[in-house]
Amino acid sequence: MTRIAITIFIVIFSLQTGIANEDWGKTGHRVTGEIAEKYLSRKSKKAIDALLNGHSLAFVSNYADDIKSDDAYRKYGPWHYVNFPFDSTYEASEKNERGDIYQAIQKCIAVLKNKNAPREEKVFYLKMLVHFMGDLHQPLHIGLAEDKGGNDFQVRWFNEGTNLHTVWDSKMIDSYQMSYTELATNANPLTKKQVAAIQQGSIKDWMYESRALCKEIYATTETGEKLSYRYMYEYMNTVRGQLQKGGIRLAAVLNQIFG
Ligand code: ADE
Ligand code: ZN
Ligand code: ZN
Repeated sequence: MTRIAITIFIVIFSLQTGIANEDWGKTGHRVTGEIAEKYLSRKSKKAIDALLNGHSLAFVSNYADDIKSDDAYRKYGPWHYVNFPFDSTYEASEKNERGDIYQAIQKCIAVLKNKNAPREEKVFYLKMLVHFMGDLHQPLHIGLAEDKGGNDFQVRWFNEGTNLHTVWDSKMIDSYQMSYTELATNANPLTKKQVAAIQQGSIKDWMYESRALCKEIYATTETGEKLSYRYMYEYMNTVRGQLQKGGIRLAAVLNQIFG
């Protein structure tokens, strides 16, 4: 190979393997948006319809990932996750000055509550909020810096090389072979009391719930492990539960903003 051919090969190869993973994957974010719709108050549904020109929460749920490749939006990259050590807390850890998922959600809520914020800004931050409430419930988005939330944690998925982050973002959901609408309609049946219990607490409480799951995942998964049916059996209900909680809590946050 000529030197140019080798350079081209290396560039293409590193782009393919080095690209930061998308979160939950498209299906996961749509499930969270679709489930949230069921729990919106009439008033917030109306306000959201006006901002999104009638588009659904599922439809806008991947916007924050779609803009990632655009240089103009590069600064929002760190807003999708937060990393801190297992033996520490969010509060005690050094903050990423470029932002993190907790700060991002606070920012979205503040703009949407601000009566003087321009409409276009509200539309932008509403779409970002729908996405980040999903990411908040992906356990590896409340991750560890040393392996980039599991992006550098190599595993095998049904005999194909991948990483732990991608298994949790999309591999399990894709292997389940349900569309986002099927996943949303087949979410766990819940009583009003159970829904109210899920909506209890703060963004921070929900972040720590994901952190607890993240710790459990690290305690039960080994580097290079061959993951397949048994892993699905062990964790697919956790994935479904997290997508459902994300949707129910997204609705709670939106109802709180829009009344
Ligand atoms: N990049 C670095 N840390 C990450 C995380 N926890 N989730 C997603 N992308 C990351
Ligand atoms: Zn994301
Ligand atoms: Zn992700």
